[in-house]
Amino acid sequence: MVKTKRRYICQACGSVAHRWQGQCADCSEWNTLAEDAPATVFSAKHDLSAGGRAIRFEALDAPGELLVRQSTGLAEFDRALGGGLVPGSAVLMGGDPGIGKSTLLLQAAAALALRGQAAVYISGEEAAGQVRLRADRLGLGKAPILLAAATSVRDILTTLAGMPPPALLVIDSIQTMHSDQIEGAPGTVSQVRASAFELIRYAKESGTALVLVGHVTKDGSIAGPRVLEHMVDVVMSFEGERSHQYRILRSIKNRFGPVDEIGVFAMEGAGLAEVGNPSLLFLSGREQPVPGSAVFPAIEGTRPVLVEIQALIVRLASGATPRRAVVGWDSGRLAMLLAVLEARCGLNFSSAEVYLNVAGGYRLVDPAADLAVAAALISALADKPLAADGVWFGEVSLAGEIRPVAHGAIRLREAAKLGFASAFGPADLPGGAKGSRYAGLTLLPNLVDRIMGGT
Ligand code: TYD
Ligand code: MG
Repeated sequence: MVKTKRRYICQACGSVAHRWQGQCADCSEWNTLAEDAPATVFSAKHDLSAGGRAIRFEALDAPGELLVRQSTGLAEFDRALGGGLVPGSAVLMGGDPGIGKSTLLLQAAAALALRGQAAVYISGEEAAGQVRLRADRLGLGKAPILLAAATSVRDILTTLAGMPPPALLVIDSIQTMHSDQIEGAPGTVSQVRASAFELIRYAKESGTALVLVGHVTKDGSIAGPRVLEHMVDVVMSFEGERSHQYRILRSIKNRFGPVDEIGVFAMEGAGLAEVGNPSLLFLSGREQPVPGSAVFPAIEGTRPVLVEIQALIVRLASGATPRRAVVGWDSGRLAMLLAVLEARCGLNFSSAEVYLNVAGGYRLVDPAADLAVAAALISALADKPLAADGVWFGEVSLAGEIRPVAHGAIRLREAAKLGFASAFGPADLPGGAKGSRYAGLTLLPNLVDRIMGGT
């Protein structure tokens, strides 16, 4: 017996409901539920006599194709991918509008095309003329990219079926694609899913590397369904502050390699330039030592990156509620660190506004940044600059202890390479060779004494 059930899919989070509601029960967004194509249920149970085929089991060590990666022509892009594009794989590239996704992919497609490989760039958002203008501006006007403005998945697949599979297929963006296999406007969950499904199947069958551009919602997830993240092999996010020049390409999920590798680019007049040595990049113009500035040796994937942390403390005269504002770090973590500094070190931040900024539009998640943030806060509070040639790293516990962190040796080496003569970190540095001017600290009050005491 065939039964059809109505179902409603939240356009924000992709969860399924069986009746319409004003608010999604999962993500609490309003008015996001839309009716989806009904699921057809033939029978609740499989009829085993009705001719299923036997599947074949495979041995893990059976000789198979080697994973041959293909360079995109942009070393930073390759690095973020874990070594290049894997043929037949599907990559989802998310990022805020205007961050440079289209620019990056146009540059990668051009680099492939200039090396004699077929690269197809399908734009569903811009007219071909617009893309051509951009390519001209990037100095890539002569690259033999196969460019088209299209939104119909059927047309795209029909065209591709009539030609040898290209090395790269860029779909900009998946939210503009429309599959006539299913009802609904482009951009709805079912359309995005169906279009992605057909394109990914083409990629798997043909060996073409597919890159889907995905829009990002205001909370940072890829617009439409989370299911898209499950369907693809690699999820990347292109990040940065639009007002800053620097962009970071990060892989969030990678079936073929490590995540957390980053590629660093600078948006310039002629497109995205690769930044091979990002270490000094995030240190803003540091000529004179100022209070409230501390350098932190961060680790991104396997790469050290030096970033500057800036703190500003403004004393309040009245009893108004002081503001705490953070850019580039977790505000919950700042609140925790302030509480630890108050409780364990007797410093008083409660009547002061606290502003914390990670320079260069960089975003820190490494817990080892705690000590550098603490140093910046103490320095700002004491109105005393920190040693200009020092770096700080270590995790701070609620008890005020300074805990060991990973990659101590790499952090020290990078700092030394860039002329930072002194380093402050956990007393216990696992696997870390300590330099001559390394100060190991066990408790947060040690740090306060050092900064306040001026040593
Ligand atoms: P774009 O690639 O269109 O972003 P997305 O596809 O992620 O929405 O990038 C648009 C921005 O990049 C635009 O606001 C201007 C900037 N830009 C440059 O600064 N230099 C350039 O050479 C190009 C092509 C863009
Ligand atoms: Mg774009």
